[in-house]
Amino acid sequence: MVSVLFEPVSIGGLKVKNRFVRSATNDYMGGPDGEVSDREVALYRALAAGDAGLIISGHAYVQHQLGKASVGQNAIYGDRFVAGYRRAAEAVHAYGAALVVQVSHAGRQTPQDWPAGQDPVAPSAVTDGSTGLTPRALTEEEIWSLVDAYAAAVGRAKAAGCDGAQIHVAHGYLLSSFISPYTNRRTDMWGGSLENRIRILGEIMQRARKAAGNDFPILAKLNSTDGLPGEGYLTLQDAVATARSLAGWGIAAIEVSGGIREAKGVMSAPGIARPEQEAYFAPAAKAVKAAANVPVILVGGLRSLDVMERAVQDGTADLVALSRPLVREPDLVAKFRTGQATRATCVSCNACFNPAEGLKCRLPGKKA
Ligand SMILES: Cc1cc2nc3c(=O)[nH]c(=O)nc-3n(C[C@H](O)[C@H](O)[C@H](O)COP(=O)(O)O)c2cc1C
Repeated sequence: MVSVLFEPVSIGGLKVKNRFVRSATNDYMGGPDGEVSDREVALYRALAAGDAGLIISGHAYVQHQLGKASVGQNAIYGDRFVAGYRRAAEAVHAYGAALVVQVSHAGRQTPQDWPAGQDPVAPSAVTDGSTGLTPRALTEEEIWSLVDAYAAAVGRAKAAGCDGAQIHVAHGYLLSSFISPYTNRRTDMWGGSLENRIRILGEIMQRARKAAGNDFPILAKLNSTDGLPGEGYLTLQDAVATARSLAGWGIAAIEVSGGIREAKGVMSAPGIARPEQEAYFAPAAKAVKAAANVPVILVGGLRSLDVMERAVQDGTADLVALSRPLVREPDLVAKFRTGQATRATCVSCNACFNPAEGLKCRLPGKKA
């Protein structure tokens, strides 16, 4: 079918064949040490064969082992993880799609006692209301070592032949906890003013450039809200200013999301049944797009082709990203292209958050 969504787009120097992005999705299927597994290569191949233009990997953790968020998560903290990403990139490239590796550190959302006897680390010791856990505040030296860990991870994505890296600055993980005044109460140069709270992003960009060169696309997934009501949280105004700074530091594209672990149902809102429930970060994406001169990726509850088309046509975003719908239907984009579908069959039940079994749709019924 002819649609603006099937027009190519450039992200930095990367040409993407259409506007459909597979948003980063942790599949819990990594190998014992976090290496990319055969099941994961098959998953990436299926997504590429199903016409997703840009595939963003599940978040891969950059520092062992406090950076780890879940069982079965991928890792990218050492050179031995490069080979697996190379296999994934080759599988994706065979279909003309692009692979971007999302690099992350779980920060205060690292599971309790993992590894045993160590507290999660975060900018400040702010108790997580959903678990009652209090992380330990990072030392200055540890912050610099994290900056280097992110930069090295970006370098490894390049070494693996991937098409870019996405820095995870969303969902309550380490970097989004730096930019929010709720979780960052530091009084040194890494906290306080917005300039200080986002300093770590600028340092990572600078060092990642050294590790991967000026031409390697570095994207960001950016929180636009913590998702909790009241004062003292990340504001949209601060998120927009962060986006502007990221653009100045050479970010290739910004995906706009929201929510932290304490704010249930914000990141992956449940029960999206009607078009008006879709695109729940559209106002934030629009604000980012108006302020920062970089391609913007809209994510969050996108289910209907016409809603996605409108988002690109009316200038809310340049690309649209899907996570849960592609768990159920990895070939959804191909179905859109051939006119076999105009809406995802995903019901947003969130059963795909399934660490025990790996990523799969458990909704009964024949897949459309
Ligand atoms: C099983 C699962 C794993 C996810 N893993 C990640 C991840 O690794 N990194 C990330 O940025 N977002 C992750 N997300 C969030 C999605 O990328 C997306 O932002 C969110 O689900 C909203 O989009 P959707 O309505 O298309 O699912 C995950 C979502 C699900 C359902």
